[in-house]
Amino acid sequence: MGFLGIDIGGTSIKAGIVSREGRVLAKSQIPTAKEAGVAGVLDRVTKLVDALRSQAGPDGLPLAAAGVGVPGSVEVDRGLVRLAPNLGWRDVPLREKLQDLLKVPVIVDNDAHMAALGEMWQGAGRGYRDILMITLGTGIGSALILNGAVHRGVFGYGAEMGHVKVLKDGPLCRCGGRGCLETLASATAMVSLAGCELERGYPSLLSGRTRLEAREIVEGAAKGDVLSREVLNAAAHYLGTALANAALLVGPAVIIIGGGVAQAGDVVLTPIREAFAEALGAWQVNPVPILAAQLGNDAGFIGAAYSALHPPGA
Ligand code: BGC
Repeated sequence: MGFLGIDIGGTSIKAGIVSREGRVLAKSQIPTAKEAGVAGVLDRVTKLVDALRSQAGPDGLPLAAAGVGVPGSVEVDRGLVRLAPNLGWRDVPLREKLQDLLKVPVIVDNDAHMAALGEMWQGAGRGYRDILMITLGTGIGSALILNGAVHRGVFGYGAEMGHVKVLKDGPLCRCGGRGCLETLASATAMVSLAGCELERGYPSLLSGRTRLEAREIVEGAAKGDVLSREVLNAAAHYLGTALANAALLVGPAVIIIGGGVAQAGDVVLTPIREAFAEALGAWQVNPVPILAAQLGNDAGFIGAAYSALHPPGA
């Protein structure tokens, strides 16, 4: 029996079948193609799951249960996606739809919650029970694990650090707000800031790229490219300050940074740690380690499989 984990992101859907012990038995991914709406995305999920099951065994591996992470606020008890700004979804009864398709019990939760559970189970969060995690991708996801359990708040939007306001009258967010953290420090925000500066003629190793990716900015910074470093520093300023504010509020034992760009390690983490320390000032009484996530792009589906194995509230 395997546990299916699915991570529906703004750009791609990643999925894997995971054993009870946390071993990945099969994994695969497919572009989300979110323009096709909920039905189109579910169609792709079905294809992906069929491919995975045949990858895991000739007769298709039997599945015990599934967990699904989505980039938005979820009422976990009802499996209802209330608002997923980067997919354009509102009030989608996802658990019901997926249970019909997959014919197994399904848990739906926020994607960053799933990633944090994955890291606590098999990654950088092993041994910790009070974790603050953020993921840098199309948006900024966040999760608070307190005493080993995900804190969702009464309505499901705890924690939504991507939409904490950090700049008055700042850039317009897909949620309709202005100056949300994710408009200034997500991978998408880094690409758009670098793009603006390149258009204005800022000399850089990145000049002439047609479709810039956040990964290239990180690589540029590692090679000493000034524009790339400035872009990372600008994002780090907002991230470090927001994380310091959150840390003062909840007192986590560790902060984990996930998402593709964090895999680059210190080139991304050092400016965040510096901004965090500066914002905390005298309050660095017990220094909080800021670590890179260890499971990379697999964290979301591994955590989703964990939550299928250990359903919330069970
Ligand atoms: C959403 C979060 C999500 C994050 C990462 C944000 O825009 O509001 O719920 O976790 O993106 O996907």
